[in-house]
Amino acid sequence: MSIGFLLYFILFTGFEAEALSYDYSATIECLAQPQKPQYYGGIIQNPELNNGLQAWIQVSEGNVPVTAVVKTSKGFIHAGATVADSNCWSMLKGGLTADKSGPAELYFESKNTSIEIWMDNISLQPFTEKQWRSHQYQSIEKARKRKVLVKAVDEQGNPLPNATISITQTNSAFPIGSAINKNIVNNSAYQNWFTSRFTVATFENEMKWASTEYSQGNEDYSVADAMLKFAKDHNIRVRGHNIFWNDPNYQSSWLSALSPDQLKSAVDKRIQSVVSRYKDQLIGWDVVNENLHFSFFESKLGQDFSARVFNKVNKIDPTQTLFLNEYNTIEDSRDSAVNPTKYIKKIQQIKNYPGSASLPLGIGLESHFPNSPPNLPYMRSSIDTLASAGYPIWITEIDVADQPNQAQYFEQVLREAHSHPKVQGIVMWTAWSPNGNCYRICLVDSNFNNLAGGEVLDKLLSEWGLKKLSGTTDQNGFLKTSLFHGDYQVQINHPSKKNYNLSRHLKVIPNDESKRTSQFVQFSM
Ligand SMILES: *[C@@H]1O[C@H](CO)[C@@H](O)[C@H](O)[C@H]1NC(C)=O
Ligand SMILES: *[C@@H]1O[C@H](CO)[C@@H](O)[C@H](O)[C@H]1NC(C)=O
Ligand SMILES: *[C@@H]1O[C@H](CO)[C@@H](O)[C@H](O)[C@H]1NC(C)=O
Ligand SMILES: *[C@@H]1O[C@H](CO)[C@@H](O)[C@H](O)[C@H]1NC(C)=O
Ligand SMILES: *[C@@H]1O[C@H](CO)[C@@H](O)[C@H](O)[C@H]1NC(C)=O
Repeated sequence: MSIGFLLYFILFTGFEAEALSYDYSATIECLAQPQKPQYYGGIIQNPELNNGLQAWIQVSEGNVPVTAVVKTSKGFIHAGATVADSNCWSMLKGGLTADKSGPAELYFESKNTSIEIWMDNISLQPFTEKQWRSHQYQSIEKARKRKVLVKAVDEQGNPLPNATISITQTNSAFPIGSAINKNIVNNSAYQNWFTSRFTVATFENEMKWASTEYSQGNEDYSVADAMLKFAKDHNIRVRGHNIFWNDPNYQSSWLSALSPDQLKSAVDKRIQSVVSRYKDQLIGWDVVNENLHFSFFESKLGQDFSARVFNKVNKIDPTQTLFLNEYNTIEDSRDSAVNPTKYIKKIQQIKNYPGSASLPLGIGLESHFPNSPPNLPYMRSSIDTLASAGYPIWITEIDVADQPNQAQYFEQVLREAHSHPKVQGIVMWTAWSPNGNCYRICLVDSNFNNLAGGEVLDKLLSEWGLKKLSGTTDQNGFLKTSLFHGDYQVQINHPSKKNYNLSRHLKVIPNDESKRTSQFVQFSM
């Protein structure tokens, strides 16, 4: 059933509204009373619907997926979804990009015809593209950077104006990575390209079960070991990808043929083998890849398969964050198999398994954006909802389908991911291929010359801290700037003082959110 009402929305019309900040808050709790509508309802008239029509959602019984759908003259746009419960109010947070002005109808709908849906405290807030960018900018200033105050003083301790200061980042604290494949082991050009850009790697296929045990009983970790050695030699951290993959299409043929009993012992052996081999050497495991979309192992070994595996992996490698890893949760609102609320319900199911309450769980978002302009409002609001559950969030495989404007869309989704305050790391699904046969986007050609995607990457890396900054101290000897968290080399000299040429390491550390103080560094002879 569905309930609709008419609304008129104008997004991105370019009018200069006062800079309105974005509300990143969300909740996955089931509340006795709905919270107040964000933005006081935005452009929705009568947000409390006191005059009749009751996007706080409640259903008459059970728990039921409810989707927000906007119908325009061009078709239906899925703007958000939740799983609503009876007897309490659930928040449905979503978003859409409107590329045209005109009348539209907003529906909250469910496939289940035997329930009623109630809504209250609805809000729809339009933002211009310019406002959207300014939210990103503000969020980056707050979440990723810190104000830094450099002071130069002379021999007597007096402020030294006109000193020249140059600041070079040597290491970024925010993890940015890419998938790699075995080509990197023996290819120094690939190695140089990679190590000068990334601090994190995920192996495209080489750590997967189908690679390390291609034929049953013959384990071969030589390629994964060589890749891990390369990574360690260059201070590249590695995500463990993956222990199991729940998609039936990607199992070894020998595995698919096993009886449940044989499969169970093969599974136990796999956990023991790969987890103890790489214990303490990774930054997180993708434990049962894509277990919202698929259930190969559950169908053969029982519904609690994933929960049991997470528990076992933690016993062998207790310090690693154990990730769920899924696609379409933030990138495709049309996929009804996964939405942020379903994702959280799955992670809670794993946490509720006996003995699992304190497992260090994490949210992995693959972020393979589909063949369409990315829906950034949906992406952001979905991350907001996921973040309200309190688990660490990583973007694990970001890319964009091959289409016109691919590189431009790639830039848009990378900017949105990097600016979201709750995203703790970004890994791109951009392993290099010698013959241009990349998964969806090649960043460089066979000689490591930039393609359009590589231009985007280098531009963003430069913006996000790799570029060199320089300036001169003011009449009080100060240079004020704002730097990304990370390590820097600061070089200071003065045109008229021969010996005033100093270099110092500076580590910009995240601010205590409540205090927001500047970091201070003083140079004196
Ligand atoms: C939202 O819902 C709550 C609970 O029903 C109500 O108290 C509140 O007044 C509503 N509206 C606003 C604008 O907060
Ligand atoms: C509809 O929802 C009710 C209450 O949750 C549930 O009992 C019923 O099985 C659902 N029907 C369908 C077709 O999903
Ligand atoms: C600083 O530099 C400016 C221009 O280069 C110059 O006019 C000024 O006198 C200098 N001040 C000091 C204190 O050196
Ligand atoms: C790298 O080169 C060595 C020596 O030729 C070879 O034994 C090894 O298999 C190669 N590794 C990969 C991953 O291609
Ligand atoms: C300052 O010292 C560095 C080496 O530490 C040198 O490369 C640079 O040229 C010097 N700069 C000046 C202005 O003397």
